[in-house]
Order: sequence, then structure tokens, then C-alpha cells
Amino acid sequence: MPDPAEMLANNRLWARDVVERDPDFFHRLAEQQAPDCLWIGCSDSRVPATQIVDVPPGEIFVHRNVANQVIHSDLNCQSVIQFAVDVLVVKHILICGHYHCSGIAAAAENERHGLVDHWLRNLVDLFESHRPMLDAVKDDKRRRQLQSELGVIQQVSNVSTTTTVRDAWSRGQDLHIHGWVYDVADGLVKDLKVTLGPDSDNAAVINQAIRKAGEAALKE
Ligand code: CO
Repeated sequence: MPDPAEMLANNRLWARDVVERDPDFFHRLAEQQAPDCLWIGCSDSRVPATQIVDVPPGEIFVHRNVANQVIHSDLNCQSVIQFAVDVLVVKHILICGHYHCSGIAAAAENERHGLVDHWLRNLVDLFESHRPMLDAVKDDKRRRQLQSELGVIQQVSNVSTTTTVRDAWSRGQDLHIHGWVYDVADGLVKDLKVTLGPDSDNAAVINQAIRKAGEAALKE
């Protein structure tokens, strides 16, 4: 694992390499950012937003926190969403959770870890509300994956009910919210088919996504 001095040296090499391939790259980016997507993902070191979908700097506006949550009283995340939707006018908000998430595991086990327990409390409540579905999945690994998926679906719902997004949709803004889950074990992103937009029946889409996630976990 590189130490900070090595990271600075790596940075020099990277910047030089980028300029060799595209001499105008940094000058262009310095003028403005115009990303089409806001990414809300987990802080986990194994889930670097731009890298796993292979896009260069300038393409995705990123917010990350423990277990990729959108909580209505979190001024940080809410400010990111407001800036992305109202100022950058992004077209897509991508909620990307992941399997093998420590935050999901901590919430699922409902053990004491300190201050972070407060942050994870919404997930503890979410899993409690889906207890029959979760208890029906006998395989521990698959149940934990389902918990990651339910977490993403809930965050998609939470984004859709922010004042920022509701106002954008009432103005007719072209904005869609997507729920994805990334598997750190194979590098693949799965679409949970919970895409919400200005014209979708959001409650129906969310309920169907929850049901399908539960059914898929039972079958596997
Ligand atoms: Co995580």
C-alpha cells in the first residue's frame, strides 16, 4: 500500500501521463465542470466511483458516506443533491451500494461501534421493517446481499422525496434516480431496476423492486 510520499510521486506521473495523451485535458477541466451524473456511494475504499464505471475526471459529481445513505436531516448530503440538481443540473442520480459493506453488516448485527451507530440507525430500522423477508433467506451471505439491496432501494426512495428533487420534477426537469449495487467480489454493478423519474409511479416501482429483490434472494 503506497504511503503519502509515494502517492504524491504517483500523482506527478499520472498528471504527466494524462497531459501526454491529451495536452488540453486539465485546461478544459479548469474552465468548468459539467457532469451529467451525481453519484452517491459508500466511503468504502474498494468502491471508487469513477474507476468502476471507467469515466475520467469531470464526468461524475460524487458524494460518499458510510453505507451510501441519504438522510433528510443530513445537511451535507442534502446540499450535495441541491447543488447537483439546481446548479449543475445533472440528469441522473446514481445510488450505488455494494456487497460486503461494513456499514450494512454493522447495522444488520445491531452491535455497538460508537458514534457511527447513530448514523446507521436508519438501516437498523429498515431491516427490522423487512424482517419476515430477511428471515426467509436462510443463506447468511445472500441475506447480507439482500440487505445491501434494500438499503439502496430505500435511499432511492429517500432521494425522490427530497424537496430538491420534488421541486425539480414539478418544474419538469429531466432527472432520473437509479439504484445500483456493486459486487466487490467480481467488479460488476447490478441495476436494481428501481429507476424513478418525473413521470414514474414511484411507490409502485419501489415496491416492485423490493419484492423482486426478496424473490431473487430466495431463489438463489
Ligand atoms: Co460500504
